[in-house]
Amino acid sequence: MPQRLTWCEVSLGALKANLAEFRRLVGPSCALAPVVKSNAYGHGLVLAARAFADAGADLLCVNDLWEASVLRGAGLTQPLHVLGRVEPGQAAEAITLDVSLVAYDAQVMQALDEAARGAGRMARVHLKLETGTHRQGVDLGEALLLVRHAAGMAGVTINAVSTHFADVEDTTDHTFARRQLAAFHEGLAMLRAEGLPHLKGDIANSAATILWPEAHGDMVRVGISAYGMWPSSETLVSATLAHRDRVVLQPALTWKTRVAQVKTVPAGTYVGYGRTYRTTHDTRIAVLPIGYYDGYDRGMSNTAYVLVRGMRAQVRGRVCMNMLMIDVGDVVGVEAGDEAVLIGRTGDDAVTAEQFAGWAGTINYEATTRIAESVPRVAVC
Ligand SMILES: Cc1ncc(COP(=O)(O)O)c(C=O)c1O
Repeated sequence: MPQRLTWCEVSLGALKANLAEFRRLVGPSCALAPVVKSNAYGHGLVLAARAFADAGADLLCVNDLWEASVLRGAGLTQPLHVLGRVEPGQAAEAITLDVSLVAYDAQVMQALDEAARGAGRMARVHLKLETGTHRQGVDLGEALLLVRHAAGMAGVTINAVSTHFADVEDTTDHTFARRQLAAFHEGLAMLRAEGLPHLKGDIANSAATILWPEAHGDMVRVGISAYGMWPSSETLVSATLAHRDRVVLQPALTWKTRVAQVKTVPAGTYVGYGRTYRTTHDTRIAVLPIGYYDGYDRGMSNTAYVLVRGMRAQVRGRVCMNMLMIDVGDVVGVEAGDEAVLIGRTGDDAVTAEQFAGWAGTINYEATTRIAESVPRVAVC
């Protein structure tokens, strides 16, 4: 393998510690289902899935069957749960991959029934209930019809009802989320009364798992915080105000590259495409072999900081497709080959995913997820 110019170091210790923290919060009888979709929020699908499985995850949540097939191909035998869309034409693959899945329409259930019966298996479905997000799911009336419909299907078992919060992490006012939780509990009770007394329920994402023990239900789907990031500052504030047990999260990802070149430039020198930056004093510019192709947002041009030799060096000029430039005039001794940290800690300073996201005008979820899959993820302790 040729040496790569940029890579992410993913701390197995942090992933495991975060999972242990969530186990402490939910207790032994609630299923802990870390979400590894979207390349494990940028942390590497197989790497993170293995780490969570080793740390005692009960299930792993993926978005689609492609992710499930990658995990099965890598030898993971743990229960997998598909959160996103599965088409009727993918029913046979879902059965072969032995996943449980979210479903909310009769055609998919019908196709799963046929595929499962053909294979001598049972399709395991979490019925998705609409409670206010208006993404996937059906309202209670339709859910009741689907339950009655599925009662005649020998190949389908509805194991659980699930729903997803629309507005739990974006605010400290949880009136709407509380309403969703109440609607979910009401729906769960009515569906249980429809001849499914053992029906389970899952609603909680990271924020709800941290904030509300009463939302844990039978399974929590923890994404962002399993990687050591808070869902938002509002969630941190809400947890503090509610005097929740202090939850300690360890960010698992450090994104690095190496300085390609250092040049001395006089005051008045333009840097980069469009000449958007002009030096105000004699300084030194370091070139980093990384750009927006790798997931370093062009919106961070002239804005973000990178850590080199433990110091902050500002991005100067526009972020290019495969390069960016930083001002290292105040950082002593920088030379080609030095490590530069784009996200993560070095010495006593850190660029957090939240800072990085703020510079890019987005959220930590998108910042780490957007790191290109071509950037290698390397497991570290
Ligand atoms: C259905 C579903 N459940 C759970 C999660 C995890 O949410 P979080 O990353 O906020 O924990 C997601 C993430 O997008 C989701 O789509």
